[in-house]
Amino acid sequence: MTTILVTGGAGFIGANFVRFVLRHRPSYRVINVDALTYSGNLENLTDIESDSRYRFVRGDIRDGAAMAALMDEADAVVHMAAESHVDRSILDSTPFIQTNVGGTQVLLDAARKSGRAGRFLYVSTDEVYGSLALEDTDAKFTEETPLAPNSPYAASKTGGDLLCRAYHHTFGMDIVTTRCSNNFGPYQFPEKVIPLFVTNLIEGKKVPLYGDGLNVRDWLHVDDHCEAILTVLEKGRSGEVYNVGGNNEQSNVELTHAILSLMGCGGEMIQYVTDRPGHDRRYAIDASKIERELGWRPTRSAWPGALRETVEWYRTNPAWWQRVKSGEYRRYYEQQYGG
Ligand code: NAD
Ligand code: TYD
Repeated sequence: MTTILVTGGAGFIGANFVRFVLRHRPSYRVINVDALTYSGNLENLTDIESDSRYRFVRGDIRDGAAMAALMDEADAVVHMAAESHVDRSILDSTPFIQTNVGGTQVLLDAARKSGRAGRFLYVSTDEVYGSLALEDTDAKFTEETPLAPNSPYAASKTGGDLLCRAYHHTFGMDIVTTRCSNNFGPYQFPEKVIPLFVTNLIEGKKVPLYGDGLNVRDWLHVDDHCEAILTVLEKGRSGEVYNVGGNNEQSNVELTHAILSLMGCGGEMIQYVTDRPGHDRRYAIDASKIERELGWRPTRSAWPGALRETVEWYRTNPAWWQRVKSGEYRRYYEQQYGG
């Protein structure tokens, strides 16, 4: 049995990743360590919580002693615990620096000092590259694109990303990094644009579109991201960075109209609102390295079918997002673990 320590496994990508590993790798165990911040939700994992190959530990990645103890049980680490929302980082960057930079350093030191933990995978983001111009339609981020983060969130993720690079270089640690574009799918916290817009429309509310709505994002289904993470963990070359993308660029206006149409709503439900400060214009990923070297390519992200399935998931799981939006979900684990 191989034991993977997943950090942040109660969040959106983490919960999907834990489920993906248990389903596709019968010889793997997963330990999920998560602090259960506002975006950590154990209800994302109720279907697998009694699986004998799965264990949840409430813990903070900034807690060196707790992380050291977990490293002694781990054959590999998939680190995705983070503060993850750009808008929140603009309101207060403190927890972003503390968790995404400080927490990553604590975790790297715990892994380094452990006699057991092997490969360390850092789940980074395409936002470390900054922004592309709208006019330059052929440009894409490659792994060689200079890092130029623009939001406090992106800067904090870049800090963690560069620490991973430095720990590989300085200490010879076996570290690999993935830099992925925007994910969509089930269990995404409804502060991010797709679940926010879908659930607003179900509630009869308008959808707040930032600025002129022409900003472009590349959209990847979360299961494609999970498969990429597992592929890099198992086959990636040590010290390397792998871009992960869906080759699926959509402007926010296009995305919004696609959601409106799937929901049977018209353009009058759009509310143009003040733009996000420093709003990155365009992200586009060249993912040819992971395809060429490791044979990964997206198979579940095709538009608009994958978007339709995701919209359908939120439509058919109102109890999940209503409990998240009302804050009710926290009661479930506050009873077990305290506040
Ligand atoms: P999320 O906010 O849904 O989940 C983050 C999880 O980390 C939560 O469960 C939270 O409780 C946990 N966490 C936060 N601080 C912690 C701490 N100090 N100690 C332990 N656990 C802590 O985020 P997500 O969208 O699932 O993103 C997961 C990772 O993927 C992040 O590292 C993010 O930067 C990266 N990423 C996300 C996207 C995307 O589109 N969502 C794209 C590329 C990369
Ligand atoms: P988001 O889901 O926050 O992801 P990120 O900022 O990491 O790309 O936002 C995706 C895009 O949608 C981004 O260009 C900002 C835009 N957006 C809106 O127009 N309105 C909203 O209410 C939100 C949350 C995002």
